Amino acid sequence: MIALYIHIPWCIKKCAYCDFNSHRLPTSPPFARYTDALINDLKHQYSLFPHLKNSTISSIFIGGGTPSLYPPKEMHRLLQFVFSSFQCADEGIEVTVEANPGAIDSQYFSAYAEAGVNRLSIGVQSFNDCLLKQLGRIHCSDDNYQAVELAHQTGFDRINLDLMYALPQQTLAVALADLQAAVSCETEHLSYYQLTLEENTGFYRRPPQGIPDDDLTYKIANQGEKFLTEEGFISYEVSAWAREDNAQCQHNINYWNFGDYIGIGAGAHGKISIKKEEVGNRLVCMRTQHRNSPLSYMQGIEKISKMPASLLENVGKQGKCVSGMLVTEVLEQEILFEYMLNRLRLNRPFSIAECQRMTGLSRIYIEDKVVIPVAKKMIEKNDITNTYQTTHLGKIFLNDLIWEFH
Ligand SMILES: C[S@@+](CC[C@H](N)C(=O)[O-])C[C@H]1O[C@@H](n2cnc3c(N)ncnc32)[C@H](O)[C@@H]1O
Ligand code: SF4
Repeated sequence: MIALYIHIPWCIKKCAYCDFNSHRLPTSPPFARYTDALINDLKHQYSLFPHLKNSTISSIFIGGGTPSLYPPKEMHRLLQFVFSSFQCADEGIEVTVEANPGAIDSQYFSAYAEAGVNRLSIGVQSFNDCLLKQLGRIHCSDDNYQAVELAHQTGFDRINLDLMYALPQQTLAVALADLQAAVSCETEHLSYYQLTLEENTGFYRRPPQGIPDDDLTYKIANQGEKFLTEEGFISYEVSAWAREDNAQCQHNINYWNFGDYIGIGAGAHGKISIKKEEVGNRLVCMRTQHRNSPLSYMQGIEKISKMPASLLENVGKQGKCVSGMLVTEVLEQEILFEYMLNRLRLNRPFSIAECQRMTGLSRIYIEDKVVIPVAKKMIEKNDITNTYQTTHLGKIFLNDLIWEFH
């Protein structure tokens, strides 16, 4: 099984806190050219890693940027290509599109549904108009409600809302009012993120006044957790809440389980495991990383589309491809850290056998060198349980916990 991530790199305006690969939407966006590039990018990755043909695509996530700006015709062409060219799990595979409440066309949602999209992730961020303005969002609280209403009316029963907390000047009451508003939208899923100040963002350059301190942030997270639990939501990952087990986001669960995924589009990255003969057919984890600039990305892909297949690179080769995509092998000493970075976020225990299967590391390496000595210490500190599941305390100090594996 393999997941597919598709990146749409344009936004109407950059938000003050955002360090995602997003670029201002040009006056004449090259959507058709970009779809061609995405299709050729995918074909190229299947030729670079031929074993992918034996994998089944288990989920598709179209993220951004602002994918809700993507014209339905192009969305349809892209998804039709994927469905008709590669093996997909079944008709009902999870296909998510991210939508910004300030960039929604009333015709688009139904056209996306016809194209095969069955889940929407709406970036509401807050229901407080002052905060939305400060975050640099292009929408107000009313737009949030309208976006959710349109999604419901169109027949989407799988809807996620992205909401942030620990926002500038945010009090506990304001944060809880946001949660109350989000819950009143009756969506099956909520992603509740603590605001982080990322480098290369407006907020990093000019930090806003009144970011809640650790005590208040803890109170908001704690009271928020209590409120969501009372409302019937179940936390299955540090930031992810679902009303039912089958409302969990399959695509993100694959990331947190350290599963493989193909990443196409400007700035997209992927993780593809291959069996390497040189190391006794051991599983080796390859990372792919595309250029960030939409134009350089398209130009790189256009270059390879004109080349004969025989000149294209072979599987497992490291370095920069002609397309500009970087392929690197994750070192043995890094892989366990990367696994823990993802896996400890999930609210379920993991086993050594699972770790072995997902990382390709030997049992001896996992047990003797790292897991047993480090995990033992964590169990003593009540950061993880003796079945290797992050505890409530462990979740609070998750970043420190993960560094223990470095
Ligand atoms: C890839 S973003 C894009 C979603 C969509 N472009 C939008 O903004 O409506 C996914 C989510 O990550 C969260 N996010 C982005 N930057 C963040 C930050 N610095 N701190 C916390 N959450 C952040 C936001 O909730 C955002 O909706
Ligand atoms: S709309 Fe989303 S991706 Fe675009 S700048 Fe804002 S947070 Fe970033």
